[in-house]
Order: sequence, then C-alpha cells, then structure tokens
Amino acid sequence: MKSHGLRVRGDWPDLMQMSQGWAKAWARPWNDDFPAVALRLERGNARFLRACTELVRELATPVLSPALLPSRTSLWTDAGYEVSDQLLLLEHDLRDIPAGTLGSDIAAGGFEPADELYQIDQVAFPVRWRLGRRGLEESIEATVRTVVHRVSDQEGTTGFSVAGVGLGQGYLQRLAVHPRAQGLGHGTALVRASLLWARRHGARAVLVNTQAENERARQLYERTGFRPVPGGLVVMAAAPD
Ligand SMILES: CC(C)(COP(=O)(O)OP(=O)(O)OC[C@H]1O[C@@H](n2cnc3c(N)ncnc32)[C@H](O)[C@@H]1OP(=O)(O)O)[C@@H](O)C(=O)NCCC(=O)NCCS
Repeated sequence: MKSHGLRVRGDWPDLMQMSQGWAKAWARPWNDDFPAVALRLERGNARFLRACTELVRELATPVLSPALLPSRTSLWTDAGYEVSDQLLLLEHDLRDIPAGTLGSDIAAGGFEPADELYQIDQVAFPVRWRLGRRGLEESIEATVRTVVHRVSDQEGTTGFSVAGVGLGQGYLQRLAVHPRAQGLGHGTALVRASLLWARRHGARAVLVNTQAENERARQLYERTGFRPVPGGLVVMAAAPD
C-alpha cells in the first residue's frame, strides 16, 4: 500500500490514524457488514483529505464521511467528495415540555452487556445503517455523559436507546427495537426516557438524525416533539477515480 506522503498508524481493519504535520484523520470499516471506509477528519486541509482518501480507497470503497452539516461540506467537496446520503436532523427543545409530561419507568443504565445492544442493532437496521461494534462504542464515547435505556421481554432485551449530553446539548445517538417487539410503544418510551434523562443532565435541547427514507422513525420523533432542522445532515462519498 502506498503511503501518499502520510504517516500511518494502526492496521486495517483496526482503527487507522493518518497524519502529516499537524493534520490528522482516522479511518475504520463503516460497520461489520457493509464494505466501505468511514473516514473522519480531525484537522487538515482538502489536500490532506484527498491524500487520506487515495490511501484508504485501496482498502475498501466507497470512502464515506461522517454525517456533516451542509455548512461543513466545502472542504470535502474540494477533496473530491459528493453527497451520497441526505439525513434528517431533528431537534427537541426541552424547554417546550411542561413539567411532568415526560414520565417513564424505564431504568437508565450502562453499556454492558454491549452484545445485547449489538444484536438488536444488527437485526433492526438495514445493512448500510448498522453501527457495528465499533460504531456502537463510538456512540457511547461521543459525549462526556452517556446513558443506555433498555426494554426487555421474557426472552431478553428487545430495544435500547443511547443518549448523551455535552456542553448543554443533548444527543439521541441511537434507537433500535427488535422487529419482534416493534409497534408496542417501546420506541416511544425509550425516546421519552432519553429526553427526560437529557433534561435532568442539563441539556437544553436534544438532536437526533435518521435516514431520510426512515418514515417510521421520522413520525415517531415528530410525535414525541422533535422538529426538523432545515438542511439536515449529509454523508459525502469520494467520487470514483
Ligand atoms: C423506529 C423504531 C425504533 C420504532 O420503535 P417501536 O417500538 O416500533 O415504536 P413505537 O411502538 O413506540 O411506535 C411505532 C408505532 O407503533 C404504534 N404503537 C405505539 N404503541 C402501540 C401499542 N401499544 N400497540 C400498537 N401499536 C402501537 C405507534 O402509533 C407507532 O405507529 P407508526 O408506526 O404509525 O409510527 C423501530 O421501528 C426500529 O427499531 N426501527 C429500526 C431502527 C430505526 O429506524 N431506528 C431509529 C432511527 S435511527
């Protein structure tokens, strides 16, 4: 594999770090099933991003960006990327909720046993949008404070949500209910429990994103008080050579 003038640490499919001077980026498999590279730019210009892209596209394609605000895409465009997916971004202003309307009896807990979350994520989402083990870990580590809410039946855990708060901003990072338990109100209860937790932990608003075509999730979020943020988010893909 050519280095393209970059310093590379880590071996694919483990997390790879690429650097050049102060510029730094990370690459990992998109998830455990969809053959693609998830590339994250920590800092650096379009030339650096292009060099990283050249390097990692020898490992897998497509090479995909994280979910980006439309205002943050110009550097990726300059590096030869095009919009691949439009995502809905929705926000819930927690000050809008009259006190006492959010009650939920779902207990808040931690990440373990993580395998239960992984199994549900795998069956609830289409291949392209599964998080995979590493993606799930990253959703937990993305914010300073994180919580996992779980629902279960006699056979075990049937649904979960991951929520986080950082700098007064809440994030609903993940929501999934096993197909055998969908339509019973668990998704709604998990969202409500996450909102309540976020408000208790100092969030003024909660953001969530989902695939543009995920009509069921959009309806659930709007029903629970989320409103669309104009422009949404986009995932960019490196244009083929
Ligand atoms: C989106 C998702 C989390 C919803 O979970 P859920 O537990 O089925 O959600 P709910 O049961 O609370 O609500 C879903 C529907 O069931 C209905 N419902 C709620 N309680 C019900 C009950 N007691 N009996 C029958 N139906 C009920 C709701 O009216 C709602 O109707 P809709 O399909 O028209 O929106 C689930 O479908 C899922 O995991 N999907 C795949 C992953 C995903 O898309 N995650 C979120 C986006 S990132």
